[in-house]
Amino acid sequence: MQLNLQTLSQPEIYKLLIGCIVPRPIAWVSTIDVDGLPNLAPFSFFNGVGSNPPAVSIAIGATDTQDGRKDTLRNIQTVGEFVINMVNETLAEAMNETSINYPSAVNEFEAAGLIMASSVVVQPPRVADAPVSMECNLYTTVPVGEGPGSSTLVIGTVTMLHVRDDIINERLHIDLQRLQPIGRLAGSSYACIREVFDMQRARYNDQTKQVDR
Ligand SMILES: Cc1cc2nc3c(=O)[nH]c(=O)nc-3n(C[C@H](O)[C@H](O)[C@H](O)COP(=O)(O)O)c2cc1C
Repeated sequence: MQLNLQTLSQPEIYKLLIGCIVPRPIAWVSTIDVDGLPNLAPFSFFNGVGSNPPAVSIAIGATDTQDGRKDTLRNIQTVGEFVINMVNETLAEAMNETSINYPSAVNEFEAAGLIMASSVVVQPPRVADAPVSMECNLYTTVPVGEGPGSSTLVIGTVTMLHVRDDIINERLHIDLQRLQPIGRLAGSSYACIREVFDMQRARYNDQTKQVDR
């Protein structure tokens, strides 16, 4: 089947994208507002961008609030700092609780019964029980489209990385069995990592004009 997206509605396009782009990692983003009130919400249009500088991206959709921005985006644009916490199987339900469209005055850490931990270089707190947290500074925002279905791409540089001691070794390998990350699929489905396979990457050798395996 071929689908010309120009003939489809915005909700249909969204459904197709989240069904095809799978599994997606989840950035559980903590921020503070101008008065210091904490906010926490998940975003799965999330990925790494580069390592020099270490950079990550999240895409935050437009909403029907007064200024059209979700609290997370407003806070990031006002304060210039945020923390991306990774979600594991144990934290999945709490993460889901923080996706409720609460009024701005609600602190989702409290609403979901989560403990805050201080960050080191940024002001927003971390999720104390998260296996990994990345303290980020805003690098840039890029508006993508207008109206329903539009979003703002947020790029942040990572200044401090927190990794739970038991999931990292001295060679900086992360133990997936202990991390137990979850990924988001379409609708309300999620994935766990139960099976992993290895595949060596071959390289083209300029001298021998052959592929080295
Ligand atoms: C697993 C998951 C992934 C989500 N991913 C996104 C996303 O990538 N972009 C987005 O705008 N909203 C996403 N949402 C919805 C937001 O979490 C939701 O709108 C939240 O209320 C925003 O909170 P805020 O207004 O406090 O920023 C996601 C929700 C869940 C449960």
